[in-house]
Amino acid sequence: MNAPLPQQRRAHVTGWGRYVPSQVLTNHDLERMVDTNDEWIVARTGIRERRVAAAHETTASMAAVASLRAIRTAGIDPDDIDLILLATLTPDYWMPSTAALVKEAIGNTKAAAMDVAAACSGFVYAFASAQAYIASGMAKHVLVIGAELLTRFLDYTDRSTCILFGDGAGAVVLSASDEPGGGLGIEMTTDPQGAYMIWLPAGGAKSPPSAETIARGEHYIRMEGKETYRFATKTMATTALESVRRSGLEPDDIALFIPHQANIRIVEAVAKGLDLPMERMYVNLDKYGNTSAASVPIALAEAVNEGRVKVGDNVVLVAFGAGFTSGAVTIQWTADPARGIAGDAAVDPDEVHVRLPVDWDSVDPIPDALAAIMAQPGTVEVPLDDVVPGEPGRAHTEVRA
Ligand code: ACO
Repeated sequence: MNAPLPQQRRAHVTGWGRYVPSQVLTNHDLERMVDTNDEWIVARTGIRERRVAAAHETTASMAAVASLRAIRTAGIDPDDIDLILLATLTPDYWMPSTAALVKEAIGNTKAAAMDVAAACSGFVYAFASAQAYIASGMAKHVLVIGAELLTRFLDYTDRSTCILFGDGAGAVVLSASDEPGGGLGIEMTTDPQGAYMIWLPAGGAKSPPSAETIARGEHYIRMEGKETYRFATKTMATTALESVRRSGLEPDDIALFIPHQANIRIVEAVAKGLDLPMERMYVNLDKYGNTSAASVPIALAEAVNEGRVKVGDNVVLVAFGAGFTSGAVTIQWTADPARGIAGDAAVDPDEVHVRLPVDWDSVDPIPDALAAIMAQPGTVEVPLDDVVPGEPGRAHTEVRA
């Protein structure tokens, strides 16, 4: 074919939204479940609390709320979306895709919908893919979602993993435009040497679920924390830097980095690697823990709604995760930041529904130990205002290189 390619179009973020469940699980609650303590968790991770989805919530339902908020912020109709990319490692089902369920729940009739599997880097991978669809002329408005319900895949007797993760969803609308700005340089890497450093052993084709795999706890997330930490601190800054350079920029040109919210010490390592102060790093992991593919879009939506991003600012989204994967995208922000708060308020989570299969009689999906804690929430009120970027880590940056 000799037909010329359509002229490359730019992908601008026009909408953003997030949803987190209302149930809070504090470090003090976890003290009642496993041999851990608030001091250790805050010092080693910066996390103080995380959210837990209620029994009626799923990855798709949280994603649908965040998506409708992003669509309202963009000022378009759900049917204007022509592609839905949903990043998750905790889909509602193996099939259909969670993206397909979200498409129906938001009232869209025409979009192609699919899931993206790249663990915690998933949202950045999906964002980069959306940018490519728009640049090629194949899509006009792409809904990019990161959504996770990790608390149903955690072993609440394993203190090395259960303290880290939480639930939530974030979404953006990327829209085609001929105006300057929007998505700039992209960098994505995958290092399969790390394939078994964070993994979920059973349930797939290699080891289908059985009474034996369940008895061995192979349906829970497993992680080599130290190896993962080493990969993250080594990779995140270089991935971000590559994306910035591909955009024709230098780190100092970036107003705000939105890093994957895994651990404050990892975020500090990124700042150090880029030779930038922690003020340039957005941090909300103290409130939500690691929400995997949801962490970057939740953080982006909160950063914009808090006034941390202005029109014309360069912003970098950067993540790492199982695979090992890493990814970064640099964006020149062009949307009116004030639109986000109104978009959030316009969508009531109780009004958003994901259709269930006929005759479906699922068991209660919340683990027993967690349900017991949630039935009697702890009374300890943890002030969050003392967890500022750099504070817990400053005392602990030297603990591990
Ligand atoms: N509470 C109290 N003590 C604990 C806990 C806990 N929850 N967990 C471990 N410990 C103990 C260990 O047993 C160990 O004790 P010992 O010295 O007597 O043997 C001690 O604390 C130190 O443990 P380390 O594992 O060395 O602690 P470290 O400083 O490495 O921190 C952590 C562990 C927080 C997991 C860190 O390695 C980390 O953040 N790694 C990266 C994890 C991550 O980001 N994963 C997400 C990847 S994204 C994705 O795709 C899902």
